[in-house]
Amino acid sequence: MNDTTTNETSSSAPDLADVRVTVLGAGNMGGAFVRAMLSAGVTAQNLRIVNSSEESSQRAAEELGASAGTPEDLSGADVIVLGVKPYQLESVLPTVREALQEDTVVVCIAAGTTLDSLAEPLGGHPQVLRAMPNTPMAIGEGVTHLMASPDASEASKDLARALLSAAGIVVDLPEDKGHAMIGAAGSASAFVFTVVDAMIDEAVRQGLPRPEATRVILQTVKGASMLLQETGDHPAVARGKVMSPGGTTAEGIAALEEAGIRPALAAAMNAAAQKSRAMSGE
Ligand SMILES: NC(=O)c1ccc[n+]([C@@H]2O[C@H](COP(=O)([O-])OP(=O)(O)OC[C@H]3O[C@@H](n4cnc5c(N)ncnc54)[C@H](OP(=O)(O)O)[C@@H]3O)[C@@H](O)[C@H]2O)c1
Repeated sequence: MNDTTTNETSSSAPDLADVRVTVLGAGNMGGAFVRAMLSAGVTAQNLRIVNSSEESSQRAAEELGASAGTPEDLSGADVIVLGVKPYQLESVLPTVREALQEDTVVVCIAAGTTLDSLAEPLGGHPQVLRAMPNTPMAIGEGVTHLMASPDASEASKDLARALLSAAGIVVDLPEDKGHAMIGAAGSASAFVFTVVDAMIDEAVRQGLPRPEATRVILQTVKGASMLLQETGDHPAVARGKVMSPGGTTAEGIAALEEAGIRPALAAAMNAAAQKSRAMSGE
């Protein structure tokens, strides 16, 4: 299990063995969340999946090791996870609203929505949170931006954090940081995939067989990230430790800077954040 980063003091983690969760939409991301919740301690029996048809719910439940449910399971749930596509939200929210009990916690993972836009369709229900994970959640190494409605209780937030505790790190930041988080986490994993792809191709061009090139680059990226995490070194300090005077690394870094690595990465992160702002009408 990974560290959970929060900006708020969290009380003791809730016991998840008795928590009943219904996931409305267990596709790619909803399915990754299901896996994380099972790892965190929700039981297969208490974790119901409701997809767009019975067959689909059954298939997803079998694949993920959870239970297939029906829309009726929404009313018995302590937590309802909304894992449908953003455009499908409108059609499912009335059913969710009808099923809400006073303490039901709603966790919505749909992108391009806001807590404000969920408030009215959910009848002003206070226990609503948004969770924006990135795809490494599928292996318990994700980054999830957790955002809570202003009136959500500490108990609801603790429950959401506990459900995400096996998904990677959880970052509690206000909703207005969402666009920056898209650039730094949501879309950023794809930027890293692009960098990795380019490095593997160049390693092959330099003569390494592709399987070895792939293993070497993946381990180098993982090792570099873990080294920074474990030592707490500033990246510039870690870089300095690899650079000998007049050596190979110094030459490579100079080439990277000349090619515009910093403006290129900044442009990608800025473009993603700006697109997110535009999509939400800002
Ligand atoms: N991809 C990312 O990096 C990422 C990151 C953060 C958040 N998200 C968000 O995650 C959400 C899901 O995206 P995804 O890529 O996982 O989509 P997906 O694979 O298409 O999954 C959508 C799921 O919703 C189900 N569904 C559709 N209509 C439904 C209905 N009326 N009732 C119940 N279930 C219904 C689908 O079931 P059927 O298969 O039976 O149709 C499917 O299981 C989106 O809102 C997206 O914004 C994605």
